Amino acid sequence: MDEELRRWRDLTDLDPDTLSPRRLDWSRKPEAFKRYPDRPRVPLPRPGVLRTPRVDLWDVLARRRSRREFTGEPIRLETLAALLWACQGVTARQGPCLLRTAPSAGALYPFETYVSVQAVEGLDPCLAHFDVAGFALEILEQGHHGRRIALAALAQGFLDRAAAVLVWTAVYPRAAWKYRERALRYLGLDLGHVCQNLALAAEAFGLGCCPVAAFFDREMNQVLGVDGEEEFAYYLAAVGPLPSPRERIEG
Ligand SMILES: Cc1cc2nc3c(=O)[nH]c(=O)nc-3n(C[C@H](O)[C@H](O)[C@H](O)COP(=O)(O)O)c2cc1C
Repeated sequence: MDEELRRWRDLTDLDPDTLSPRRLDWSRKPEAFKRYPDRPRVPLPRPGVLRTPRVDLWDVLARRRSRREFTGEPIRLETLAALLWACQGVTARQGPCLLRTAPSAGALYPFETYVSVQAVEGLDPCLAHFDVAGFALEILEQGHHGRRIALAALAQGFLDRAAAVLVWTAVYPRAAWKYRERALRYLGLDLGHVCQNLALAAEAFGLGCCPVAAFFDREMNQVLGVDGEEEFAYYLAAVGPLPSPRERIEG
């Protein structure tokens, strides 16, 4: 193993001190969510009222593939809502914690979800932030951001043709408060769970989904308007209708 990698592995090894709850400074616990209260909000259809496909889990697991041949056709707003719920829907409360559809180390959820809305019925193309607690989109900037996202992601053109691109940022201090350097490992694991939920939900709807981690950090951070220090782009995924005659469950 290369020396740099060994250093990274050792730096992020578990420190027994980290495990002691007494070590934690609760007065410095970072906010659990990011909010954009001054931005226009689009409430999303609540999970109870969402029409979701009745599918067999084993069938969906067997069918899932990374699919990139998006047609550019739109999806419904309620489908986008269901996909976001699959990623980060609140399913229970535990004290002040809002537990979600995907697990997260220490229930800290040290990430945020941004959505490049590109072809969604009833919603103009825009860049939005997903408000987990309020189950709403907060519109950050109007306009189709697909091309900028594709360029930041090594010109992967399918990102521009997707109906929506979900971009997850890491909010490092939210996890480092408890786990210090080990947080860097947990972040990737947390987001792996989130993205797999999205992939399975998209498959259930008969939509394509492709995870993407090949992108230039600086350019992607600029698209999102995040500082690249405390919050930085970590992972993304494109979703949208496919041209193939696969059964379309969405309608
Ligand atoms: C962490 C991660 C990063 C990935 N990054 C990209 C990417 O940048 N571009 C892309 O087209 N596919 C990307 N993929 C998709 C993989 O290429 C794909 O999962 C792999 O070829 C296996 O195919 P399958 O997902 O259809 O089973 C990524 C997958 C993962 C898990």
